[in-house]
Amino acid sequence: MGLFDSFKRQVSHHETPEVSIPPASHAEEKDEGLEDARVVEREVCAEPAADEPVDEGMHTFVATPLRTYADKKPVKHVVGATKVIAILNQKGGVGKSTTAINLGAALGELGKQVLLVDLDPQGNTSSGLGIEKGELDRCVYDVLIDDETTLLDVIVPDVCDGLDVAPATINLAGAEVELVSAMARENRLKEAIGSVRGKYDYVFIDCPPSLGLLTVNALVAADKLLIPIQCEFYALEGVTKLLDSMKRVKTYLNPSLDIFGVLLTMYDGRTTLSKQVASEVRGFFEKLVFDAVIPRSVKVSEAPSFGQPITEYDPTGKGAQAYRDLAKEVVRRG
Ligand SMILES: Nc1ncnc2c1ncn2[C@@H]1O[C@H](COP(=O)(O)OP(=O)(O)O)[C@@H](O)[C@H]1O
Ligand SMILES: [Mg+2]
Repeated sequence: MGLFDSFKRQVSHHETPEVSIPPASHAEEKDEGLEDARVVEREVCAEPAADEPVDEGMHTFVATPLRTYADKKPVKHVVGATKVIAILNQKGGVGKSTTAINLGAALGELGKQVLLVDLDPQGNTSSGLGIEKGELDRCVYDVLIDDETTLLDVIVPDVCDGLDVAPATINLAGAEVELVSAMARENRLKEAIGSVRGKYDYVFIDCPPSLGLLTVNALVAADKLLIPIQCEFYALEGVTKLLDSMKRVKTYLNPSLDIFGVLLTMYDGRTTLSKQVASEVRGFFEKLVFDAVIPRSVKVSEAPSFGQPITEYDPTGKGAQAYRDLAKEVVRRG
């Protein structure tokens, strides 16, 4: 599928097809959500305001409202118990957001319903899926801070097959500070995610590269952890600290928390270093390490700038294949 509002909106007046306003009943059909979005877009694009200069041949940016959860396509299968998995490593640049996007999309391809909760103020998961953060009036920040905003209020549905996103904007950076004085500050995300249990097969939380209050919220909300480890020097550096944090949260706040799996990322089979790191990580985490290994691939790093998961940007490449293998393993692990 892969229809991204931000890209759809960049159409020229000349490319805009004739407006055909559907009968009222059409708009009420829930599964026509995307079509509706297109119709709205056409309406907006087709008639430039009288005072608006029309520059022949120039591409014009026309904003339309982002889709909301109410526009979500109907789910065709029975969704079982929702598994909430936090993607966590306090090191930056190890492939957390890349894994959230591509594992989510690969599970979507398998017919699963997946929600990505972007808990990183940088919002890489949101922008990597083509969501224009500047156009959001609310994000995960509001869910955590404002009792009136629910997770469903901020979800952008069907960014690709089966994949919804609760996006983050830079506002989320404020939450780290504002939560300090809030009631039940460690439980905010858990409560929010509780309200969507039963609607998704998997909820992935893309964590920020720190062990602050946002990450603690993820550790409390999660059933399990997925830890991406980059195949480079010092791969295991900081892992002890991460495991300590996990143990503390497990003792005091979330007794059932455990590691779901450890993922080797940016593996370069041509280097001895990658092989050494992989074997070191397998020695340390043993069976917890996924068989699927994510290769270092230029296509994987390019895909976010096109607002697409690798399964759409380069569907037959080795990156897409690795994330599909991972998705199957995730399903097998239950
Ligand atoms: N398998 C890969 N091959 C090549 N580049 C990758 C791969 N995975 C991630 N990257 C790139 O590495 C950088 C960090 O990845 P990212 O997922 O943003 O890490 P994190 O979320 O842990 O900070 C990004 O520029 C991303 O595009
Ligand atoms: Mg990230």
